[in-house]
Amino acid sequence: MTRRIIIDTDPGQDDAVAILLALASPEEVEVLGITAVAGNVPLALTQKNARVVCELAGRRDVRVFAGCDRPMARALVTAEHVHGKTGLDGIPLPDPTMPLQDTHAVEFIVETLRAEPSGTVTLCPLGPLTNVATAFETAPDIVGRVAEIVLMGGAYFEVGNITPAAEFNIYVDPEAAGIVFHSGVPLTVMPLDVTHKALTTRPRIDAFRALGTEVGHVVAEWTDFFERFDMEKYGSEGAPLHDPCVIAHLVRPGLFTGRQINVEIETTSELTRGMTVADWWGVTDRSANAMFMGDVDAQGFYDLLTGRLARL
Ligand code: RIB
Ligand code: CA
Repeated sequence: MTRRIIIDTDPGQDDAVAILLALASPEEVEVLGITAVAGNVPLALTQKNARVVCELAGRRDVRVFAGCDRPMARALVTAEHVHGKTGLDGIPLPDPTMPLQDTHAVEFIVETLRAEPSGTVTLCPLGPLTNVATAFETAPDIVGRVAEIVLMGGAYFEVGNITPAAEFNIYVDPEAAGIVFHSGVPLTVMPLDVTHKALTTRPRIDAFRALGTEVGHVVAEWTDFFERFDMEKYGSEGAPLHDPCVIAHLVRPGLFTGRQINVEIETTSELTRGMTVADWWGVTDRSANAMFMGDVDAQGFYDLLTGRLARL
């Protein structure tokens, strides 16, 4: 059955690869729209980058919306140190010519959930949860209409990547994450615990390049750039390709395993702000609110990704 999704994103090279994977998988995923949020880089760049990616995929028909330009209650924190000044460093690409939609992303999310039959739209946040949480606060009636939220964010065993305690997407807007994790919407979480097991090793990047297509070349250049930061920091053999894990789960759920557990978000402590407190071992009586993924068939993930990118 095709999942009808809204991708909420802060491109970011890994977001870009996730969008390409979604657009290359029409049997499993119908992209109703892409909503940009401030995160890796400011909103002016994330909404532009989302359109750059759609044009790279030959999909000028996809509707792209600009959303919130800052977190709900905090100053924006960006990650140019990882993604570069443009957010898509690695290879220069032409400015987009496809239009940005006039409607605000939050309004698009609300309108779509009200217009589509209840339980038929899945939200796929790949950045800070500001747009989704703002939509829930603005229009509480839509919360019960969401089929599922499949998001990239958080960490437990892998601990934080922007602070010792927190993963970037949750750290940037912890209040928004709290709203989403307490919303009662069925939630599947792709934390660093999983994404750090899906590394862009040299053979995997070579496989992108070996596609011999423009998309293969661009993805290889993006991942070559993107991986330098994590390899230096972790001494790993590649970088975690975070966001495509969300779309891969929709296309081939068997690649991932996890546990239905309670996950709470730290919003008050400055020391541990944005920490996802995951009750992996069931030591509390707090109710389970998330399928928290813990493992991935990494080669299966890359074989799927490369095979689908070959279609573009
Ligand atoms: O911590 C990784 C997450 O932060 C990814 O979504 C990456 O794109 C950045 O947004
Ligand atoms: Ca992202």
